[in-house]
Amino acid sequence: MDSFGEVFAASAPAKVNLHLGVGEARADGYHDLVTVFQAVDQLDDVKLVVEAHTATEGSVVNAIYTNLLMDIEVAEDLDTPSNLAWRAVDAAVNAFWAEHPGAALPRIRIEVTKSIFVAGGMAGGSADAAAALVAANAYLERFGGSALSDDRILEIAKTLGADVPFALMGGNALGTGRGDELVEMLGRGEYWWLFINPGTSISTGKAFALLDDMRHDNPALVPHLDTTAVAQALTSGNPAQLGAALHNDLQPAALKMRPQITRIMALAEAAGGRPIVSGSGPTIAVLCDDEQHAKRAYYAINPHLSEGMDILLAKGPAEGATLL
Ligand code: C5P
Repeated sequence: MDSFGEVFAASAPAKVNLHLGVGEARADGYHDLVTVFQAVDQLDDVKLVVEAHTATEGSVVNAIYTNLLMDIEVAEDLDTPSNLAWRAVDAAVNAFWAEHPGAALPRIRIEVTKSIFVAGGMAGGSADAAAALVAANAYLERFGGSALSDDRILEIAKTLGADVPFALMGGNALGTGRGDELVEMLGRGEYWWLFINPGTSISTGKAFALLDDMRHDNPALVPHLDTTAVAQALTSGNPAQLGAALHNDLQPAALKMRPQITRIMALAEAAGGRPIVSGSGPTIAVLCDDEQHAKRAYYAINPHLSEGMDILLAKGPAEGATLL
């Protein structure tokens, strides 16, 4: 077919939670959250590359290949149909086929280029899903003659994971429910971050479960559901004020699972940054005063990191998933 090799590409940002308040466990296995997200300009790219033949049902995806641009150990095999980018393409195409039964679509392969730490607490998998949805919708418009509506894409995003809607949206947002009921937040200024990964991952589900256990024995670990301080700091545009307002209820669980991140936090503080566990960890997000401070802190911290640890610099807020 003459469309062979045609490419549909999109990128999507990582996130940091400026505030992560975790409420009670719910019957569906999730926890109610009150969280403030900021997207940062550390991006993953997803490409859909058209291959030969067509499909009229099932999956249009022949294969997925991941190119890791960071030096961390990844426990799971990323290149399988369970990859969130693959599942996102399947979900978008199946929603299209529900509206247009029997329509023929060309098969594709997926190429993911990952700059966001894997299972690091930065929603890298969710970014891949969001980018895959945006790319898949361009592919559907080209070969199916009509794209899915924004509302339909958002609905699909929610089924793929609690952080996927925010990866579509970007910016600064208040998240409630599972973290997927989003309202854009007013914010001024730009914020310079270092992200330091200890070379390991944490399963999000395990971090939430450990927090539940720890709360059993320690009544001091109450849910922090008030985001006023972060909201005020964001409207001030003052990084020092935001640094003082950062809060993460999951931090004690991440510190217990990966004690080595305590040393990373101390290094960040010695360099004048404000460290916080990013999401469910184990990545440490370090808020700096400005670009110059972030670069100085990068070079101050980097020589002290152990083998396998990785550090990167990023700026927020960044835009959500974007067609390239
Ligand atoms: O939605 P996602 O697949 O990213 O969530 C992974 C796991 O994290 C869930 O299965 C659940 O155990 C936990 N989680 C939670 N409450 C949330 C979000 C995630 O308990 N609001």
